[in-house]
Amino acid sequence: MSPRLTEALTNVSQAVNAELDRLLPVSDAPDSRVHEAMRYATLDGGKRLRPFLVMQSASLFNVAESAAIRVACAIEMIHCYSLVHDDLPCMDDDDLRRGRPTCHKAFDESTALLAGDALLTKAFEVLANPATHSDPVVRCELVADLAHASGGQGMVGGQMIDLQAHSLDLDVAGITRLQQLKTGRLFSFSCESGALLGKAHGELRLALRNYAHDLGLAFQIADDILDVEGDVAEVGKRLNKDADAGKATFVSLLGLERAKSQADMLAEQACRHLDPFGDKADLMRDVARFVVRRRS
Ligand code: IPE
Ligand code: IPE
Ligand code: MG
Ligand code: MG
Ligand code: MG
Repeated sequence: MSPRLTEALTNVSQAVNAELDRLLPVSDAPDSRVHEAMRYATLDGGKRLRPFLVMQSASLFNVAESAAIRVACAIEMIHCYSLVHDDLPCMDDDDLRRGRPTCHKAFDESTALLAGDALLTKAFEVLANPATHSDPVVRCELVADLAHASGGQGMVGGQMIDLQAHSLDLDVAGITRLQQLKTGRLFSFSCESGALLGKAHGELRLALRNYAHDLGLAFQIADDILDVEGDVAEVGKRLNKDADAGKATFVSLLGLERAKSQADMLAEQACRHLDPFGDKADLMRDVARFVVRRRS
């Protein structure tokens, strides 16, 4: 990873932790357990790629960091909720996440379910708050776009296909569609949110959408590759899950070498979509190259 990307990702992680700490207060009431589980699932962990993309895309449009960080936290809440539910016994049944016990292992299944529900709804509460943007139209757009990216036509739809993947006999086009929904839509929201906050439409927003499309696929191919040849201590989650579950992935369909070259090709293609932004988008180029080389 380039030193400037390491520094930028560290800065975003620190800012997201500080803001999540403020947005997710502890409680001493009888409901405190769900708040603790929400904090457990979100604080101090993960690469924070989606928040990073929000902050970077916002900086392209000179959006105030105080506004962007709220959107960054909202998308991270959705992402963390999706992981908490994804790890439940009725889904992937995983015990390890981000190098620690999964939420339902650290708490219990009902608490993890509720913590996921509460993170999902909290994200929209954060977006709807005037502190996120002074213009209510922009806030409505943020809410509508994140709802669309997260719901049945987005991440949840992708999860539904993923759960049936072992019996669907998906080809590359089918897997691409699955991944676009499961992973791609949240990346797209992250990348486009800067344009939304900056009230930029048209070509620049489209450039970010195209970048996110290729980045999301490259990211998911890398996730599939890590599932096969990652190191559990580095990745921080169980491996060989896809093969064990009998799921077709880019790796099972293309083989490791072609999957890697496809991911590299997509990362370079993603970078080219950023041409209209010149060197202001260099960190977004760095992150595209990082996601395909990452070890975690
Ligand atoms: C993991 O996402 C889940 C997928 C969409 C494959 P990340 O690899 O971004 O997870 P964290 O946030 O860094 O833990
Ligand atoms: C989960 O995908 C993606 C979402 C939670 C939307 P995976 O099941 O492949 O993620 P990991 O490998 O458990 O992180
Ligand atoms: Mg899953
Ligand atoms: Mg999983
Ligand atoms: Mg995976």
